[in-house]
Amino acid sequence: MTYQHFLDLSDAGANAIAAMINDAIDRKAVRARWGKGQPDGDAPLAGKVIALVFEKNSTRTRVSFDIAMRQLGGTVLFLDSSSSQLGRGETIADTARVLSRMVDAIMLRTDDHAKIEEMARHASVPVINGLTDRSHPCQIVADLLTVIEHGKALPGLELAWFGDGNNVLHSILEAAGLMKFNVRVATPAGFEPDSEFVEMARAGGATVTLTSDASEAARGADVLVTDTWISMGQADAAEKRSAMEPFQVNSTLMVEAKSDAIFLHCLPAHVGEEVSEDVFEGSQSVVFDEAENRIHAQKSVLLWSFGLLG
Ligand code: CP
Ligand code: NVA
Repeated sequence: MTYQHFLDLSDAGANAIAAMINDAIDRKAVRARWGKGQPDGDAPLAGKVIALVFEKNSTRTRVSFDIAMRQLGGTVLFLDSSSSQLGRGETIADTARVLSRMVDAIMLRTDDHAKIEEMARHASVPVINGLTDRSHPCQIVADLLTVIEHGKALPGLELAWFGDGNNVLHSILEAAGLMKFNVRVATPAGFEPDSEFVEMARAGGATVTLTSDASEAARGADVLVTDTWISMGQADAAEKRSAMEPFQVNSTLMVEAKSDAIFLHCLPAHVGEEVSEDVFEGSQSVVFDEAENRIHAQKSVLLWSFGLLG
């Protein structure tokens, strides 16, 4: 069976991402009558096993990959750095070669993106990025699915990002170039996304606006997105927190957006910091649809990685 690594959205490309979203919509629709632990009727990954390897904490990514794999008929095993030999210095290259003899796919959440590239170089099974310091592509497949489910088409969509120019934003920018939507990025000076991702989006035809004015970014936007000000592995600096304060997504900012705009957050959220409680709990917030969609998106990513989609 052919397999494909999913380290970033560009590994799949626009057509495969569209296919992932469509398949997720179809599989989600027919699941309504089934229990969460019951496999899809076709169980396309029956007999397959994936190793979920975590060098950082996770709730959604861990649970959604586990449930997604079970719903596709497969099984999972979980490894973390504290209880595996990875935490005692066994190399990524050796871990990749050993796991490839034992499992059919590897999902890795790690700090340094170079580690997942190393894993992919040495693995002979598909490797999937479950978040690195550079990107979070699985999250963005779920986010695009959520946007579409809420009645918004991707081409021409105006998405506004507030706060830190982090890994989640990088994958949004990568998606923007592939799926032809526009991104307004509002960050404090010094916390902009890597220019590589801005250039990638622009090269794909997306309009990307970089600003330090949150209201300018929010004006007329279809989707407002934020994330923690301090990502896993980053220093929790008081200066950074204070620079981020004007970028909180709150009701004053929401009224600048279109009246049917939606609010996204990959979670975990820090209510009262990057988002106010009234927005987080408000009618425009679709964060729990977004979290559930991690399962449906993960299933598509898994099928694509196994060469069964797109
Ligand atoms: N959004 C997300 O990736 O959540 P977890 O860190 O809980 O996996
Ligand atoms: N930017 C966050 C996302 C967590 C899902 C982090 O890297 O910690």
